[in-house]
Amino acid sequence: MAKPVSIEVWNPNGKYRVVSTKPMPGTRWINLLIEQDCRVEICTQKKTILSVEDIIALIGDKCDGVIGQLTEDWGDALFSALRRAGGTAFSNMAVGYNNVDVNAANKYGVAVGNTPGVLTETTAELAASLSLAAARRIVEADEFMRAGLYDGWLPNLYVGNLLKGQTVGVIGAGRIGSAYARMMVEGFKMNLIYYDLYQSTRLEKFVTAYAEFLKSTGEKPVTWKRAASMDEVLREADVISLHPVLDKTTFHLINKETLSRMKKEAILVNCSRGPVIDEVALVEHLKENPMFRVGLDVFEDEPYMKPGLADMKNAIVVPHIASASKWTREGMATLAALNVLGKIKGYPVWSDPNRVEPFLNENVRPPAASPSIVNAKVLGLPVSKL
Ligand code: DGY
Repeated sequence: MAKPVSIEVWNPNGKYRVVSTKPMPGTRWINLLIEQDCRVEICTQKKTILSVEDIIALIGDKCDGVIGQLTEDWGDALFSALRRAGGTAFSNMAVGYNNVDVNAANKYGVAVGNTPGVLTETTAELAASLSLAAARRIVEADEFMRAGLYDGWLPNLYVGNLLKGQTVGVIGAGRIGSAYARMMVEGFKMNLIYYDLYQSTRLEKFVTAYAEFLKSTGEKPVTWKRAASMDEVLREADVISLHPVLDKTTFHLINKETLSRMKKEAILVNCSRGPVIDEVALVEHLKENPMFRVGLDVFEDEPYMKPGLADMKNAIVVPHIASASKWTREGMATLAALNVLGKIKGYPVWSDPNRVEPFLNENVRPPAASPSIVNAKVLGLPVSKL
């Protein structure tokens, strides 16, 4: 038997019981649930990653819906427990849902929500920050300063790379990859090479228009190229940012062999999912190529790093904070709560999960819909006409 977990209760007399496995930013998500007759229970246990047993204890005998986190293992055990408790609604507070066994959810008729549309710019900004920090060796220089080692300006102190005129490579030019590409092209006048199964016409148009603008001001225009293979990006780009979804085809996409195709002084950034990179191979590559730099937000065995990574001066590591802006995290909490609420109330599913502004405007009541349910089709849920 799992130990009882500590909880905070809002609106104790609410008709529907909604559990959040973590406190989430802001209060709007709580208020929206309370207004619709939900009793909200928030797990306040001082334990970062809850086990399946902890969550089963939280679900208890009666639970209408759960808001969960990407660190939790949402599979058969949890979906069956939720169903037994009468629940049919779950939402990850994340756009990625590789921690969720959607087939298991389908089996128990549980809707699975996620939170796209609100993380794009925030995540792209972190990828851009890591690119800049790696190029200009910001973290190393900061450590040097704090260690009291700075005793005067020197011509060779922390010399890094100029991004202007270099090539940025994007692997996976979906929403986040494209937003990152635009930031790097427009912000730093980098040329673009991207690889994606789908053509990103909007991104190409953006770079073309920006190139025209630069030409009109007498500056060298930027260029773009859609690569025929990922290898082409690896070989040609100076900075490469990874934006694929994690699945069998992208597991260890970056490995000993693919790393060896990259430029010796390239910068590699990963804000997608850790297992996209073979981290052991990366550590070896960083050791052998001191001018190669990496900026990582995610790790293969999160929250752990593979041995040796933390010692590498040419690696910048941050704890999965790509979506961590106040606006985005509060928005994610709101969307996750509304996914669960929508299913409980029998609302339809919003027709375009990336067009979520109507749900985020604090001054108006959100639409009566679940913003994003990934298995809506399989469960035969109705789609909103709005
Ligand atoms: C997500 O939403 O999938 C992100 O990884 C969280 O930052």
